[in-house]
Amino acid sequence: MILCANFKANKTRQETQAYMAVVESFVTANDISDTIMVFPPFTALEHLSRNVLIGVQNAYPVQNGAYTGEIALEQLEEFGIKSILIGHSERRHILGETQESVTAKFRFFAERGFVIIYCVGEPIAIREQGDDALMNYIDTQLVGIDTAYPDLIIAYEPVWAIGTGLTPTNDQIVAMHSALRAKTSAPLLYGGSVKVENAGEIMALENVDGVLVGSAALSASDFCTMVAQAAELNITTGE
Ligand code: 13P
Repeated sequence: MILCANFKANKTRQETQAYMAVVESFVTANDISDTIMVFPPFTALEHLSRNVLIGVQNAYPVQNGAYTGEIALEQLEEFGIKSILIGHSERRHILGETQESVTAKFRFFAERGFVIIYCVGEPIAIREQGDDALMNYIDTQLVGIDTAYPDLIIAYEPVWAIGTGLTPTNDQIVAMHSALRAKTSAPLLYGGSVKVENAGEIMALENVDGVLVGSAALSASDFCTMVAQAAELNITTGE
């Protein structure tokens, strides 16, 4: 399983250090073999952790240059960062990223061997139009993306489930993940209101290879509980 904590614009550097100390010692003490990733804000980046992968939530696809307010490759390299979230719905819908700009980021960071967590997901109005509209919409978010890229992870995050406490039914998650599985062999994460109460059940679904967690992962102990749930699943499935 792959478990990711996306902090968004939450936590100070000091809070992130305290959080990482809890998660790292939990991973070590419990001999966790799942992949654990944390995406803090840029201001909280540190040199690499021993057993938790640190990634960024965004970056500008250049080595460096005159891009006021942006963080580019040179700044990531200083911290040894090799993982990035691309295409998150908050960047698409709140920060106005187009498929074209998302694709440019994908190409740039894929050429440099980054682990890319590429996010797709529909607004509620699209889901309400039915299955064909839903899949057509997801297909538009895959335009220009090399779904055979070896370090690709895809996260399905329905926009209406993010931060709302709403989640799709298990059948809806399985249907979307099996449609994505037909397009790619990349690991598939589910994201959107994942919490301690539903993470185990969601991770047990077919073609769900992990979770991308926002608000509920802000608590280090809740995130560790989800990591423990994944470890428990490995025992029951003999992985
Ligand atoms: P929530 O877990 O807060 O719904 O956020 C999900 C998300 O956007 C993770 O990237």
